[in-house]
Amino acid sequence: METTIYYFTGTGNSLKIAKDLCENITNCRLIRICKRNMNINEVTSERIGFVFPVYYRGLPKMVANFIKNLDVNSGRYFFAAANFGSYAALTFEQIDILLRSKGKSLSANFSVEMPGNMWFMYYPHPKEDFINRMNNQSRITINIARKINNNYENNIPVIKKQI
Ligand SMILES: Cc1cc2nc3c(=O)[nH]c(=O)nc-3n(C[C@H](O)[C@H](O)[C@H](O)COP(=O)(O)O)c2cc1C
Repeated sequence: METTIYYFTGTGNSLKIAKDLCENITNCRLIRICKRNMNINEVTSERIGFVFPVYYRGLPKMVANFIKNLDVNSGRYFFAAANFGSYAALTFEQIDILLRSKGKSLSANFSVEMPGNMWFMYYPHPKEDFINRMNNQSRITINIARKINNNYENNIPVIKKQI
């Protein structure tokens, strides 16, 4: 089964997660979501993933627009891996809604805590938290990759559905 991971990153946290995932998923390729890649219409993968940071309690606009444009017809298993300073907020619902408008749906969602980089909103978290999150990231990501290799499925967390 071929996997394509589309990732968006501002400061590299999502890139690190996307790389670690791809290295541990069989037959995987990585494609960056950026201005010049906004209209991809030749997807052949059966497994399609999205890796992104949470922005303003939602999907970065570029990620939402990218998925709107994406041809997902080949996909049979869809996953999303959000990373954030606090929580995944509405991002999984947003992706699920976009996929459902194309006759597909999100099969699995994963969360990875990373150092928050929204410095204009808050002071840095304690250094120890940063170090712990950086140290834990690889192990957590490899565990997620193992689940993806097994086409693990889960539901969008109920608590988020009530928002
Ligand atoms: C503009 C902006 C908005 C953000 N909004 C949120 C948010 O609503 N919730 C949250 O938990 N983290 C938020 N963050 C923190 C990022 O999601 C987090 O640091 C992430 O790991 C950054 O990933 P990246 O290096 O791939 O861009 C925000 C960061 C930026 C720059």
